Amino acid sequence: MKKFLMIAVLFALLVALLPASLVSAQSAGEDYTVQADDSLSKLADKFFGDINAYWAIMSATNQANAEDPSYVKIENPDIIEVGSKLRIPTQEDAQAFMATFDPANADVGALFASGAGGQLLVGNWWTSGGEFAGVNEVYKIYRAEYPDVELIHAGIAGGAGTNFKGANLNKLIAGDPFDVFMLHAGLEAELYSPEKYLTPVDDILAEAGVLDVMPEDLKALLKIRGNTYTVPLNIHRGNVMWTNTRLLEQAGVAVPTNFEEFFAACDALKAKGIVPMAQGSTDGFEFGHLFEVVLAGTVGAEKNHGLWHGTVPWSDPSVTQALENYSKMLDCTNEDRGTVNWVGAIKLVINDQAAFNIMGDWAYGEVINDKATDHVTWNSPPGNQGMFFLVSDGFAITKEAPNPENARNFVKIITRKDAQEAFNQNKGSICARTDCDYNTFPADRQEYFKGSAADFATNTIVPMVTHGSGAIPTWQQQFGDIVTKFASDRDAQAAQNAFILAAEDAGFPQQ
Ligand code: GAL
Repeated sequence: MKKFLMIAVLFALLVALLPASLVSAQSAGEDYTVQADDSLSKLADKFFGDINAYWAIMSATNQANAEDPSYVKIENPDIIEVGSKLRIPTQEDAQAFMATFDPANADVGALFASGAGGQLLVGNWWTSGGEFAGVNEVYKIYRAEYPDVELIHAGIAGGAGTNFKGANLNKLIAGDPFDVFMLHAGLEAELYSPEKYLTPVDDILAEAGVLDVMPEDLKALLKIRGNTYTVPLNIHRGNVMWTNTRLLEQAGVAVPTNFEEFFAACDALKAKGIVPMAQGSTDGFEFGHLFEVVLAGTVGAEKNHGLWHGTVPWSDPSVTQALENYSKMLDCTNEDRGTVNWVGAIKLVINDQAAFNIMGDWAYGEVINDKATDHVTWNSPPGNQGMFFLVSDGFAITKEAPNPENARNFVKIITRKDAQEAFNQNKGSICARTDCDYNTFPADRQEYFKGSAADFATNTIVPMVTHGSGAIPTWQQQFGDIVTKFASDRDAQAAQNAFILAAEDAGFPQQ
């Protein structure tokens, strides 16, 4: 139910906008126990003839849960367990609710009851199965240690924060911030005018003693004009080629290591009626992500660094070559790439419908969550051997956090080894500290995490642009837009000219 993507936050604002009398009227209605194959949207259709009215069910159920815990608390509307008790509002209440629904003014706090210890509003975009499984491990620790605090998972769906970042910025500007929110280590913090809207966390990191075990490459990324605003939770690898071993075996195709081999494999797979590569696009970042990996794989680590640091011009013929490789690669992908997102793409590999998918290792979180570790493995994308694309997620505390103490306690937990181990074994990333013990992870996953940690320690580290670490936000945005346009018009000349202008805009004159 992609469309009904998450959003405790939107649900929150819903209720915030409702007159009090209407909120209390929600207690009328009937109870319902979730059956196999139910989804909130299906139920909304069944009861109200409107799939979007799932918001009303979510609202009514959470209201009921505040008074009677036998009702489920719905944090993520995409994940509703069989057997959960829901409250279905009356038709009239549902209609009234939907009539006031306005996603423009999120006020998460107004939605949920406050615990004796107040609330903790956690802004993020982790709503997919694997993403939520990861962050939920951190929530479990927080809730066990601070049972009086009402922790609110304010997830705004859209991979790589495509919808979250703008919504979060709006809330900061409107003076209605989350307590903590997720962001990438690195230049992404600039998007949020850190001096104005964020609280430095240097003292928390120092007190937690975490600086001694934090990788140097990560530490370097975190400092912004002398301060740190992000408490890192993990290190994702952005450049992985996920591989369905069953399909390769069936087609008698070996894992390709360079572009030539990749295109040969593509032809061989096509000849057997197998989609060679899965690709998504609807979260807005997937095309740019793939090109960033193909670019580095084509031009090599050194030139790639030069392109992003002003020492190699974007007019370089190797960039043209990268665009060609990219275009040919897109011809190896599923025809419905325009209508699936990154989750849909990795699911094609998981479900034996495509042989490869180039995506960061949050895709491994989906592989784990879907119990597919037996037939989905990992390889280096063509030409990417020896490079580790660094993507690190962390949390910031807002300057005007409504619950500052709860926020501090949350990020303190984030620094901890136990929290990072619990989170990362589900998320697909390695810890943001060097002392995690991957031997404690479930046996079927250890090889991936150990390999990733070993590569991180020895490979060339490439901070990834598409995920906020390698370039200023405006350049990141332009790069993604250029590539997305190229993915449909395939005009290499136009794309390369646009790259040149974007680099100039970012302050790197192109000769
Ligand atoms: C990345 C983020 C990952 C994962 C992915 C897809 O930007 O670092 O944690 O969430 O987006 O949403």
